[in-house]
Amino acid sequence: MFNRVAIRYDLANHVLSGGCDFLWRRRAAEIVSKWNPPCILDVATGSGDLALSLKNKLPASKVTGVDFSSDMLAIAQRKGLRDTIMADALQLPFADQSFDAVTIAFGLRNMRDWTAALLEMRRVLTQSGHLLVLDFSLPQNSLVRAAYRFYLHYILPRVCAVLTRDKTAYQYLGASIENFPSNRALCDLIEANGFVNTTVTPLTAGIVTLYTAEARAL
Ligand SMILES: C[S@@+](CC[C@H](N)C(=O)[O-])C[C@H]1O[C@@H](n2cnc3c(N)ncnc32)[C@H](O)[C@@H]1O
Repeated sequence: MFNRVAIRYDLANHVLSGGCDFLWRRRAAEIVSKWNPPCILDVATGSGDLALSLKNKLPASKVTGVDFSSDMLAIAQRKGLRDTIMADALQLPFADQSFDAVTIAFGLRNMRDWTAALLEMRRVLTQSGHLLVLDFSLPQNSLVRAAYRFYLHYILPRVCAVLTRDKTAYQYLGASIENFPSNRALCDLIEANGFVNTTVTPLTAGIVTLYTAEARAL
């Protein structure tokens, strides 16, 4: 599916988020910059926007983007992300403890096994490594949540169909957001799979949330 929409993916992101996706990734990069990690892995890097924000913020760090969609990676490369590897996040082609930070933006929700993905991200992190997850969430406020659900299920799929010229590609999005754990539930999942000290930062009224965690000593 991501190969199909790759060419229009960035446009769809910017339009559907009203440009907020730039701010979300910038905020993520600011958090990662405080850890000052020499080696960063951006999992499900897609068209590379988070990896490129990280590279901007941390020019001395090595940032590697991994994704299993060749077409998304081709776009990331064209935008200037040099270190990309095509691989499945559930079987990362890296030795244990190869990275000081692992990031994943709008990727974990799309994986068929969240537990396996988290364990794999923990495996490639050093003992003092950090994880950052950025993903959609459901707002806590019931009025905002109702308005957001209307947008998600009725407006977004129609706008996406026009933008991506693909009627089916974004139909899954609303359901995937409904099914994905958020806030404390996602922290519990992260902590059950190799991490400690999770933090939660809701952004834009809670439609997106940033999570951080530290690798639990093995
Ligand atoms: C919604 S995009 C997010 C891309 C980018 N991180 C961003 O913030 O725009 C999700 C990405 O996850 C990738 N993906 C999903 N499951 C994957 C897996 N098991 N292994 C590697 N990449 C995966 C898709 O190919 C797609 O590029």
